[in-house]
Amino acid sequence: MTDDRSPNQQLLPLTAQALTDHGSSAAHLSIGGCDVVALVAQFGSPLYILDELTLRTACQQYRRGFAQYYAGASQVLYASKAWSCLAVCAIVADEGLGIDVVSGGELYTALESGVLPRSLYLHGNNKSLPELELALNSGCVVVVDNWHELKNLDQLARSRSQNPLVMLRLTPGIECHTHEYIRTGHLDSKFGFDPNDVPAVFSFLSQSTLQCLGLHAHIGSQIFELQPHQDLGGVMAEWFLVAQRDYGLSFSELNIGGGLGIRYIESDDPPSIEEWVQTVCRGVTESFTQRHLPLPKLLCEPGRSLIGPACATAYTVGSRKEIPQGRTYLAIDGGMSDNPRPITYQSQYRAVLANRLDAGADQVVTIAGKHCESGDILIRDLKLPLAQSGDVLVVLATGAYNYSMASNYNRIPRPAAVLVSNGSASVILRRETYDDLLRQDCLPEALHRQTTTS
Ligand code: LLP
Repeated sequence: MTDDRSPNQQLLPLTAQALTDHGSSAAHLSIGGCDVVALVAQFGSPLYILDELTLRTACQQYRRGFAQYYAGASQVLYASKAWSCLAVCAIVADEGLGIDVVSGGELYTALESGVLPRSLYLHGNNKSLPELELALNSGCVVVVDNWHELKNLDQLARSRSQNPLVMLRLTPGIECHTHEYIRTGHLDSKFGFDPNDVPAVFSFLSQSTLQCLGLHAHIGSQIFELQPHQDLGGVMAEWFLVAQRDYGLSFSELNIGGGLGIRYIESDDPPSIEEWVQTVCRGVTESFTQRHLPLPKLLCEPGRSLIGPACATAYTVGSRKEIPQGRTYLAIDGGMSDNPRPITYQSQYRAVLANRLDAGADQVVTIAGKHCESGDILIRDLKLPLAQSGDVLVVLATGAYNYSMASNYNRIPRPAAVLVSNGSASVILRRETYDDLLRQDCLPEALHRQTTTS
């Protein structure tokens, strides 16, 4: 089954439907052929519901775009910081994607899911020695971020008589419009080599034991503009030229990062995956051709636009507070611990009532989380049907940077996640228990005596 809609332009997963033949009069939301109300009854809430078809479709649209618009080789990597777990890594690898990892933990997860090390790229602006050792043991590519790392890695490789594959991350000096916390391409960024340092880095590399495949840059996240990505091709082609002409380094790979935005609310209007890929391919092809450079193997590493639209989070509605002439708060059984994006970036979301999908949205409510924090508000001024305790509220487009940024604030266990497809649901992350919360706790002997004797 294929779907031509670009998942990043939808509010709902591609398989979302209104289900009417389930025994009651109101329509239920179904995702992946599963009744969301029944999923909550079976697996509890909050529940991350990941739609396999939407994730696979996004992977396929990226790959198809490169096959169509780029004459050279290409490789799409999944930026697993968006959601790293065994099942997600296995699905994207099954779709032929490699994986971008940013820590030993993400690298370990990808390796354990069975992904080939050569298709893994390790990022990070302060990789530890154990992380670099894990990378060298595994054979993944290391994307070198700064001098400190370059020298450490070179020394480590020499001491182990290895010639690891690396790429260099540069700060391209490209501005784009997105939240300041998720902008990375401007010169005042903590990531990558400053352009002023690049000549010296090329000179170091020309005598190093490291095998440099090429260059990497990432300009930011949740970007709706196409121009910055078009411009990036030119900036990077110029560095390929300098490397070859002045330092005898012939690079074969160019990674232009990720960053394509997704629709969280009706007014969000991101370009489609196909439009983004076409733009990137045009920018790279034109700028390399103009400089008479061979087309590099072109890599990109989207995270949000692959997994964001594929997931929705189901909550159970609890208390309701109506302030005379003020807001109506509807409290749910999760909040900033399972979705920290609203409190961190003032991100906006939309939600529907899964058990009364077809009812008219005649109330304006504010969806409050259950944490002891006034800012724990998931959605302000949401239009919903009259909602009451026990209703199932589904927040949309929660696949990216929700589970991966989740915490145990207030000692609230992290939710379960299910993968839904063709009417069946499989648990891919078990719900945490109170015992899980205590698993790392240690009570020193002396304190133990104090608590039992006092
Ligand atoms: N490559 C690099 C080097 C990155 O730093 C990132 C995201 C990506 C790729 C993937 O970008 P995407 O396609 O997902 O936009 N927690 C924030 C987003 C942080 C993004 C960090 N880097 C949020 O919730 O919006």
